[in-house]
Amino acid sequence: MKIIAVSNYDEMSRQAAELVVDQVKKKPTTLLGLATGGTPVGTYTKMAEAQLRGEVTYAQCRSVNLDEYMGLGPENPASYRYFMQDKLFNHIDILPENTHLPSGTNPDAAGECARYDALIDSLAPIDLQILGLGHNGHIAFNEPDDHFVAGTHVVDLGEATIDANQRFFDRREDVPRQAFTMGMAPILQAEHVLLLVSGEEKADILHQSLTGPITPQVPGSILQLHGNLTVIADKAALSKFPIGSF
Ligand code: PGA
Repeated sequence: MKIIAVSNYDEMSRQAAELVVDQVKKKPTTLLGLATGGTPVGTYTKMAEAQLRGEVTYAQCRSVNLDEYMGLGPENPASYRYFMQDKLFNHIDILPENTHLPSGTNPDAAGECARYDALIDSLAPIDLQILGLGHNGHIAFNEPDDHFVAGTHVVDLGEATIDANQRFFDRREDVPRQAFTMGMAPILQAEHVLLLVSGEEKADILHQSLTGPITPQVPGSILQLHGNLTVIADKAALSKFPIGSF
């Protein structure tokens, strides 16, 4: 595991985008594993800026996203498909047909999970998986539980996740109670995992995830088992590590 300590969110985003751009330059057909939430937004902006400056093209890249809310379609501004279009895909030259998320509106939930797993299998391995970390330690929407799940599945979102994500909705009641999420297998099989963490409020859970017991109660702790994990985190997020660690 490599931990890169940076001063703030902007610097985290700059270094993360640089790493993505280097990867895409090295392998133009890179399969990117993409995340939603507040954490990767700055990275996505800087990825688009790098293309504008002519440093990189994403024209041959493919992408798979981690998750999608149950019941929300692409036209819903709170859906993750909408988020990805708005924050990244509309601003880079990746082909629309090469960007993939679970479909939140497939009435056949089991079928949707099977479809998404088959799709990931046909593209895998993910070359570079970008991850944020939930306040409760979730990665993707793998919430604290008594077991890890390998494949795509439907999850009941915990109260902590609903609280954290209500800022993307008009009202708390509007936050869906369920979501489709990628399981742990494609994440652990990714060639390289890039975990991005910013802010004091994530300091405890980041410390637990990287140094505590590997347990499904802290889903991010499974990343300790990944052979090629890079963490880019700001000083506030790393404040529970002993001074002088980095
Ligand atoms: P955030 O979410 O980036 O909005 O804090 C992270 C996550 O839930 O994975």
